[in-house]
Amino acid sequence: MIILKSDGEIKKIKASCQLAAKVLNMIEPYVVPGRTTIELNDICHEFIIRQKAIPAPLNYRGFPKSICTSVNEVVCHGIPSAKDRLKDGDIVNVDVTTIFEGYHGDSSRTFFVGQIRNPLAVKLVECARECLERGILAVRPGCRVGDIGAAVEEYARSQGFTAVQEYVGHGIGKSFHEDPQIPHFGLRGQGTRLDKGMVFTIEPMINEGHWRTKTLKDGWTAVTQDGSLSAQFEHTIAIRNDGIVEVLSR
Ligand code: MF3
Ligand code: CO
Ligand code: CO
Repeated sequence: MIILKSDGEIKKIKASCQLAAKVLNMIEPYVVPGRTTIELNDICHEFIIRQKAIPAPLNYRGFPKSICTSVNEVVCHGIPSAKDRLKDGDIVNVDVTTIFEGYHGDSSRTFFVGQIRNPLAVKLVECARECLERGILAVRPGCRVGDIGAAVEEYARSQGFTAVQEYVGHGIGKSFHEDPQIPHFGLRGQGTRLDKGMVFTIEPMINEGHWRTKTLKDGWTAVTQDGSLSAQFEHTIAIRNDGIVEVLSR
């Protein structure tokens, strides 16, 4: 069941999304060689709390930390840890979801750590960024989720990469994960129709090798099955009741 939002509710989701974007801007200069992912977690946690907001991942279905940090072959849901020290040449996705005045805002970016000497890593990260932009451009009132998935997947394949199928974008609002699901693959003209009043994420995870993932024994960390690199970007998008498509977390 898709929960439609009024323009007033979309404004509240936007306030939360703008905070998530501010957290990502704030944390970027800390994403350097020698930092641990628990340090990034703690800095984000304090910042979010100080803004009178709640980090949505903390205790969500048992997730133990306040953000997700996914390094190199980690596809998503990486758990920040003191053992996880960033080094020159790593890529790391920081995924921030805030709850502000009862509404969720969800956004993530992949950062380069220090100097990247692997040109394929640069190409992968830029591809993931562009996949999200192409997915956003496919959104309009009356479109189908397959229009978004096809746009993302075709661009990933055109660059020699693959789009993860096991994790998808999602409706968002008072709840973290609502209907509909937004796959990052599919066929144009197929799947759920998207329309005015809907708010959802697009969050393509793009792999260097095969799209298949596996989950580590911690029950959360998703990694590429073949050990290849993975990159992700995420925005929360609204189809406003005037029909305008707005990226709330930009
Ligand atoms: N922020 C992730 C998403 O984009 C979800 C993280 S779930 C958590 O949907 F429990 F790991 F935080
Ligand atoms: Co999300
Ligand atoms: Co997210």
